[in-house]
Amino acid sequence: MAGRIPQNFIDELLDRTDIVELVDARIGLRKSGRNYTGLCPFHQEKTPSFSVSPDKQFYYCFGCGAGGNAIGFLMEHDRLEFRNAVEELAKKAGLEVPDDAAPINPEIQKRQSSLFTQLEKAQAYYQRQLREHPQRNRAIDYLKNRGVTGDIAKTFGIGYAPPGWNNLGKALGCSEEDEQQLIEAGMLVVKDDRPHTNKRESYDRFRDRITFPIRDNRGRTIAFGGRVLGDDKPKYLNSPESPVFSKGRELYGLFEARQASNRLTRLVIVEGYMDVIALAQHDILNAVATLGTATSREHLSKLFRMVSEVVFCFDGDQAGRQAAERALDTSLPIMEDGRQVRFMFLPEGEDPDSIVRKEGKTTFMERIDNALSLPDFFFDSLSQQVNLTTLDGKARFSKLALKKLQPMPNGVLRQLMLDQLAKLSHLSLERLLAFAPQEESPPIESYDEEVHTQYSTRESRNPQRRSGQNQPRRNVRTPAEWATLSLLHHPQFIEHLEDFPELSDADSPGAELLHELIQLLRENPSLTPGGIIGH
Ligand code: UTP
Ligand code: MN
Repeated sequence: MAGRIPQNFIDELLDRTDIVELVDARIGLRKSGRNYTGLCPFHQEKTPSFSVSPDKQFYYCFGCGAGGNAIGFLMEHDRLEFRNAVEELAKKAGLEVPDDAAPINPEIQKRQSSLFTQLEKAQAYYQRQLREHPQRNRAIDYLKNRGVTGDIAKTFGIGYAPPGWNNLGKALGCSEEDEQQLIEAGMLVVKDDRPHTNKRESYDRFRDRITFPIRDNRGRTIAFGGRVLGDDKPKYLNSPESPVFSKGRELYGLFEARQASNRLTRLVIVEGYMDVIALAQHDILNAVATLGTATSREHLSKLFRMVSEVVFCFDGDQAGRQAAERALDTSLPIMEDGRQVRFMFLPEGEDPDSIVRKEGKTTFMERIDNALSLPDFFFDSLSQQVNLTTLDGKARFSKLALKKLQPMPNGVLRQLMLDQLAKLSHLSLERLLAFAPQEESPPIESYDEEVHTQYSTRESRNPQRRSGQNQPRRNVRTPAEWATLSLLHHPQFIEHLEDFPELSDADSPGAELLHELIQLLRENPSLTPGGIIGH
């Protein structure tokens, strides 16, 4: 929850970092002319097409097109988030990462940090109760019964909130400020049945429950889940939203998955805390769970910053199928090429916890490997909604599919799905596109490459980029685009750049970007291409 990192710090950091050294330490480079080359870590290759430029402080792979600056390399290679990559480089450079005071209020930051402290204390307290409380055996027996070993309990920080209404506050010291903070963190609940007295009274939210700390990316406890030991209701309690916790963003088990491996390529999304735990208990250490909510686009984006493949795991019943439909709709708009989403369905009545205990690791892994690809699930589920043997059914099928495919980013996957749709509906892509929702795409006169791309480019639906919508697609770069490219590769040209009115014609494609680049370089004439990309 830290603030933005100021741009001038990023500039300085890139300035002090040598990308050649950074990359060399990870993949080994050889000098070749002015540049260095090596085997690309981002795709399989036998001859090196990965190149690092010391002058430009930039890497580029001629094989797969991966490229970027030192921060980008670290994010991709070490699978770090932006801030963590910056922190890593800063450590090496002997710099301390400042927080931009402007966008985040220092008051809020202070408040958050005191909440983190309270939550950490609560976590330590619950863990201690699992070892020391007179009734600890009930909790321990429950966990043992569910196959949880001490090791896994420790890894996931599982604890026990003892019975009683006033344990936590008492244990953590009872100053009014502490109490206030525990309330804000969701650990204490305010009694609302005595509105007329000044004295606030509060009680423990989690009582006689197994506790599961929910941790953020840095491993800080930000909330809890709590399960009853028996059949009471509600079965699970979750912390409410707080200044440090938002359900729509956090995933249970993600921190632990990242701790378990720094080479994660795939994450599995399951439904419950105990599913994550049971899978970990069977050495499947890449499962995460949403916190009693549907998977959000934010959840997915977060995961795709770390891995290229996400597998949704659902129960085989009707509810699971419905949840999968929702997950599909959430996924489509962020299906950039290179990302993979798959869907697995368990037999009716099973969840990952129950089935991995029955079948063991290998069989469960096979289930993951055999999960349906997104296009397969997409067409499967659509064809179950309509009767594909009638003309009317085919038309409805096509309309539905087109509507769903509309928000997908332009790319190979989308194109493949459109092709598949044409095949399944026995309609040419041309006739098919005539079904496309009219308000969304321009009228289609005849089928040719142009129509094809018009429907499938994201630009045509993006109001900000609408200017070129009805013009033929250009293969020719505008002068402004050429100038931008030249400047990007040779920032020192800025010194020779006079004002070219024809380049700053605001309507010309690329002019806005050029303008920004010129301004940036006038302010920072010593930026390298890597530094520019940092902006
Ligand atoms: P399930 O009801 O599917 O239970 O809840 P489960 O995970 O199989 O639970 P066990 O195996 O009986 O322990 C799935 C998830 O839904 C949320 C929790 O996040 C839970 O992990 N949930 C469920 C709640 O928030 N509250 C509830 O009362 C129940
Ligand atoms: Mn279960």
